[in-house]
Amino acid sequence: MQLNIVVLPGDGVGPEVTEQAVDVLREVANIHGHTFHFTEHDAGGVAIRRWGSPLPRATLDACVSADAVLLGAIGAPDFDQLAPAQRPEAGLLSLRRALGGFANLRPINSFPSLAAASPLRAEIIDGADILFVRELLGGLYFGEPRGLISQNGTSSAFNTMRYTVSEIERVARVAFTTAMKRKQKVTSVDKANVLETSQLWRQTVSRLAEEFPQIELDHLYVDAAAMHIITNPRRFDVILTENLFGDILSDEASVISGSLGMLASGTVGGAVDLYEPVHGSAPDIAGRGIANPLGAIASAAMLLRHTAKLDDEATEIEEAIRAVLDNGYRTRDIAQGGHPIGTAEMGALVTEAVVEIANIRHAYHAV
Ligand code: IPM
Ligand code: MG
Repeated sequence: MQLNIVVLPGDGVGPEVTEQAVDVLREVANIHGHTFHFTEHDAGGVAIRRWGSPLPRATLDACVSADAVLLGAIGAPDFDQLAPAQRPEAGLLSLRRALGGFANLRPINSFPSLAAASPLRAEIIDGADILFVRELLGGLYFGEPRGLISQNGTSSAFNTMRYTVSEIERVARVAFTTAMKRKQKVTSVDKANVLETSQLWRQTVSRLAEEFPQIELDHLYVDAAAMHIITNPRRFDVILTENLFGDILSDEASVISGSLGMLASGTVGGAVDLYEPVHGSAPDIAGRGIANPLGAIASAAMLLRHTAKLDDEATEIEEAIRAVLDNGYRTRDIAQGGHPIGTAEMGALVTEAVVEIANIRHAYHAV
């Protein structure tokens, strides 16, 4: 299998964690005889500094002709004062729109060996396994009109939350089809007691559900969903929701896995799939070699599963992550006061574990 992967390390801890993810992918290619080509480009704050734009033409061109894009993190505090359209994040949003992926998949599960790293009690999170399907190209992030106006000495600002039926249907379809391969339960999250967009969301999702009679569908208001996610995470299988609600709830749900640094995501449905850890650029710890690379590495595993259909290879990476955690290795965010290891060390341990797991599988198949 040949794959052209564009890597956008981005800002903050992005370069450190993507480097580890690429190393793991190189090892997987080596073991299984695949050819993965990696090309690096600038995006975000680093691109503003070098090229004057958060998404330079060369970056965009490379991404649209890639098989998949692996991104680190976007965002830097030096640009905090700028208008949204000038910020590093604008580059990420333009990229998401250009690649066309509208369904952002964010799997969140509890890791038994990390139970102590979670602020939630072990008996609450034990066995939790949630897949967020977050709408990624609509809602307040992209709605027009938007703006900031100053008039007669006062300022006001406004954004628009807008969804069409077809935008809701296409992401709901991803949630239903993905749930068919899981526990066949979909919880749609909205604010239909207040928002028209949410009423349309709820009606559309309910109508589409008729095509999937095996799926158990329920609806929750977003405030109640926020509470249930941390009080009873096992009640969920697939959570389907709009862009901003998904952004907020997935960060909240990350406490189930012990740290935001653990979470991976993949955006599918467009011309080119985009993979990125859920965590941000973490400027406070950037450049110190202490960031958790497991979210980025798990994103690489998602890339292999969803884009390349290399299910065994993806599973090997996920098993390697578990094995390293089971052996007690922790980066600072999950160390619980123990002796943390660095980003590169964690990456190298996962690579080693991938080799071991692949060898065991190979021996097993040879018997
Ligand atoms: C995420 C991030 C982004 C988002 C930011 C960096 C624009 O928080 O991927 O969750 O809000 O989508
Ligand atoms: Mg977010």
